[in-house]
Amino acid sequence: MSNKQEQWWKESVVYQIYPKSYYDSNGDGIGDIKGIIAKLDYLQELGIDVIWLSPVYQSPNDDNGYDISDYEAILDDFGTMTDWDELLNHMHSRGMRLVMDLVVNHTSDEHTWFAEARKSKDNPHRDYYIWRPPFDGKEPTDWVASFGGSAWELDEETGDYYLHMFSKKQPDLNWENPELRDSIYKMMKFWLDKGIDGFRMDVINMISKKEVLSSYEDYENQRAKLKDYAFNGERVHDFLQEMNKEVLSDYDIMTVGECPKVTPHEAKLYTDEARKELNMVFQFEHMGLDKIKGKSKWDLKPLSLLDLKENLSKWQKELENTGWNSLYWNNHDQPRVVSRFGNDKEYRVESAKMLATLLHMMKGTPYIYQGEEIGMTNVKFNQIEEYKDIETLNMYKERVLEQGRDQMEIMDAIHKKSRDNARTPMQWNNSKNAGFTEGNPWISVNPNYPEINVEHSLQDPDSIFHYYKKLIDLRHTHKIIVYGGYDLLLENHPAIFAYTRTLGNERLLIVNNFYAVEAEFLLPENLPYKAAELFIANYPVDESEPISRIMLKPYESRVYKLTL
Ligand code: NOJ
Repeated sequence: MSNKQEQWWKESVVYQIYPKSYYDSNGDGIGDIKGIIAKLDYLQELGIDVIWLSPVYQSPNDDNGYDISDYEAILDDFGTMTDWDELLNHMHSRGMRLVMDLVVNHTSDEHTWFAEARKSKDNPHRDYYIWRPPFDGKEPTDWVASFGGSAWELDEETGDYYLHMFSKKQPDLNWENPELRDSIYKMMKFWLDKGIDGFRMDVINMISKKEVLSSYEDYENQRAKLKDYAFNGERVHDFLQEMNKEVLSDYDIMTVGECPKVTPHEAKLYTDEARKELNMVFQFEHMGLDKIKGKSKWDLKPLSLLDLKENLSKWQKELENTGWNSLYWNNHDQPRVVSRFGNDKEYRVESAKMLATLLHMMKGTPYIYQGEEIGMTNVKFNQIEEYKDIETLNMYKERVLEQGRDQMEIMDAIHKKSRDNARTPMQWNNSKNAGFTEGNPWISVNPNYPEINVEHSLQDPDSIFHYYKKLIDLRHTHKIIVYGGYDLLLENHPAIFAYTRTLGNERLLIVNNFYAVEAEFLLPENLPYKAAELFIANYPVDESEPISRIMLKPYESRVYKLTL
């Protein structure tokens, strides 16, 4: 089946909320559900269709809610189930949809399933998790967890190790066990029957571990195998097809699977409509272009525009007829894009708009992460104590305290890549704590809030906010932006990222100067057109100016509609 079928989730723009940092309604320094309700007018003004809400479930917060101890209860910090019901009602009455985070590769070690499982080897819940005996008195293999250290933790009581791909407080679930799968499906129905509109599925391509677990023969040299086999395991498609049949297919919802290390070929397996698995995946290839290949995210290298063009175009073309793309620059795990790929100093506004245009005119469902719409930037805390993210803190401990590496160099990597760049509080206005809380924020506010905040953005008709609003509006009013075919132009141009979108006898021309110096755009000769109408631009444009040659200003973006 091709992907030509029209679907609401293809026509939507999604806004991600990281609740802990959005808006605090009760002065405890932590964002909450009532705080989100209070900001729905703002989101409606922006024009988004769907909210993806990062986890609000009960959790000891080892990984800010991605370690869930009760899937069917709301964390006290965030409010109550009644607050949540109210949020859903308010959203639905405004025509907005709600997508919840589904974290089922692992639970918290404080989940009752795990508390039961560790009681004894014959506990009925034992097999909900992955256990192995010690190898020669130590861990079963040399696997390393995503947040550092061994991926195995000894359970003193029963003498076996359990697997945790993330922190040791996030034991991995055993998807081979049909009872576990059944429990997950029941939980999913609990939320779907409450009326939610979909799931964002956390590291969903890591749930099939059969292959990786049967592939190790001894302790040493298993690391490479973990990388090769832990993602897109043998049974993952069986599991997702089963989940689709048992649960998803009964509801009109959207699904997006977070899939690290996924290639377009695999993404098509997950999202081909005929295969009945997911609607789209989050791929990570473009997020890896500014790190040294084969190294960790902290080992930085400058982004090459040619690599970015090649990569994003590959995804556009490969998923042109099968599957569907998600489009994103930001989320709660990534640094702020304007600091990362744009210019957060003299061209903050221009470059944020350019990056937005580049992404939002592509084919796929766009995701906006809170604060992106006002051009929020990375933060530079000088003290490691100001950082809260477990991944950042573990890396610092390992590299600086244990390996004695240069502290300045590591702090520089943290400033550029820490997940806390995305997690500083949303900047609402220029009052204390950026208007995020009346109390002490759980993480410090970015000191640039007096300049960068929602109130300013709403007042200034030329703001990044109003530009995003217009991009969203264009997508809602022109099917070509949703369904048109994509073609890259000027493949080897070192500074310009230009492409077209084509549907019937309409074509869009999208031109972006990726850098702070002027660049000359020459329209390729094989692009004839009768008339050109300017759709959006991030500088004033003389509309009578011919488009065959354009001198683009720093970070200039323009979108024209061409009549063929
Ligand atoms: C991916 C989530 O986006 C991230 O925040 C989390 O730490 C890991 N999965 C583990 O759940």
